[in-house]
Amino acid sequence: MYARPLFVVVGIFGAFSGARDTGPIRRQPLISPQRAGLRSISRPFSQSGHFVPEARIGMSAGCGYTLALMNDAIKPSPETLSQAGLPELSVVVPTFNERDNVTVLYRRLEATLSGISWEVVFVDDNSPDGTWEVVRGLARKDSRVRCIRRIGRRGLSGACIEGILASNCLYAAVIDADLQHDETQLPKMLALLRSGEAELVIGSRYIEGGSADGLNKQRAGASQLATEVAKRALKVEVADPMSGFFMIRRDRFEQLAPKLSTQGFKILLDVIATAQVKLRTIEIPFTFGSRQHGESKLDSMVALDFLGLVLAKLTHDVVSLRFLLFAMVVGTGLVVHLAALFIAHEVFQEPFAEAQAAGALIAMTSNFILNNFLTYRDQRLKGFAILRGLLLFYLVCGVGLLANVGVAFAVFDQEPIWWLAGLAGALMGVVWNYAMSGLFVWRKR
Ligand code: GDD
Ligand code: MN
Repeated sequence: MYARPLFVVVGIFGAFSGARDTGPIRRQPLISPQRAGLRSISRPFSQSGHFVPEARIGMSAGCGYTLALMNDAIKPSPETLSQAGLPELSVVVPTFNERDNVTVLYRRLEATLSGISWEVVFVDDNSPDGTWEVVRGLARKDSRVRCIRRIGRRGLSGACIEGILASNCLYAAVIDADLQHDETQLPKMLALLRSGEAELVIGSRYIEGGSADGLNKQRAGASQLATEVAKRALKVEVADPMSGFFMIRRDRFEQLAPKLSTQGFKILLDVIATAQVKLRTIEIPFTFGSRQHGESKLDSMVALDFLGLVLAKLTHDVVSLRFLLFAMVVGTGLVVHLAALFIAHEVFQEPFAEAQAAGALIAMTSNFILNNFLTYRDQRLKGFAILRGLLLFYLVCGVGLLANVGVAFAVFDQEPIWWLAGLAGALMGVVWNYAMSGLFVWRKR
């Protein structure tokens, strides 16, 4: 019957859709957080005030011991931290063209975090304005300042994830560089994590005492709509899941990190929606100020990123954000193809074969352009690389077409149901094009 070719399609889909960084196929951890007793206690400190790795509590002896050792490795106590010269709090600051803001932010952190053992990790995506150079200058004078300079990558969420994972502290905060967030809230956030009352503290604009005055009317409307969609679709209970200002226990983050999307900018929403075991969360109000220098990097494309994230979370990450965008582009390609075919064949009276070929070429080209601007905008090809990428894309799609027709024929041979054969072929083509484009056209550097 048609089962075999379908298996092939589904198998290849599974293998390749997991090949990219957004990792759509999620594996459960060997020991689930619940089974390890992670939720069974309310505070992570012993009576003497020492940090107790939670996984030690409520576990059976054998695996418990191994897990306790494992957790010792990733969850140091404040004492071992200070022995190792490590700070307790890491403030992660994603930056892109924030040259004029980073020094001011550093000074403010220094003032507000006195008495706390802290570090700041700036994660800069090789800003053309040389933000990373300014940060290196600060780092030369103060070893608490660190800089990760990322080459060939773009993206707010990915930058935050890398910054947090580069730290060894007990707690990590994320704060924007442009001074729109209120850094004076950081000590309060830290106190809530230290006491064990919370595992995640959110700086919230949408609870009493907070405000989003720094947003213009348009942005405020979009932000509220997105918040509403996230709350309803993903059953998120916090008031401001779109906030870019939060502090989290780093061990909790470490558990979630492999499942987070590096694309897009909604890292907090991703953290909340991904945590299967709910994080004890507290929101504290703050006033979102206006930008001092430079401009916002969030453009209208982030709306699509946001919808992609919501859809991916709704499908329990079976389909990745990137694959969804790719599939959406394929949809537009179909429309472009038919429109070009119509114009060439009906309007210009070209023979069908030529018109069809022209339609395919135009659709592939428009798909390439859209993918470069949307699906792979964090790895956008520029200059001469665009031409090389386009030629490779034609090649990939050409082979994809052969695969499409091959699978369709195989299915039709087994079971002459035209739509089933057509669907299997089309699915094969899309999955092939997606997997191969990621490997050859927009490959990670
Ligand atoms: N490394 C890196 N890479 N940093 C980036 C990138 C990037 O691609 N894009 C933006 N950033 C940095 C900025 O330099 C800034 O420090 C911070 O991330 C926030 O970016 P903005 O461009 O200032 O964003 P915004 O003010 O429009 O949006 C903020 O508020 C939203 C809520 O309305 C952000 O905090 C969003 O996360 C938040 O959802
Ligand atoms: Mn901003």
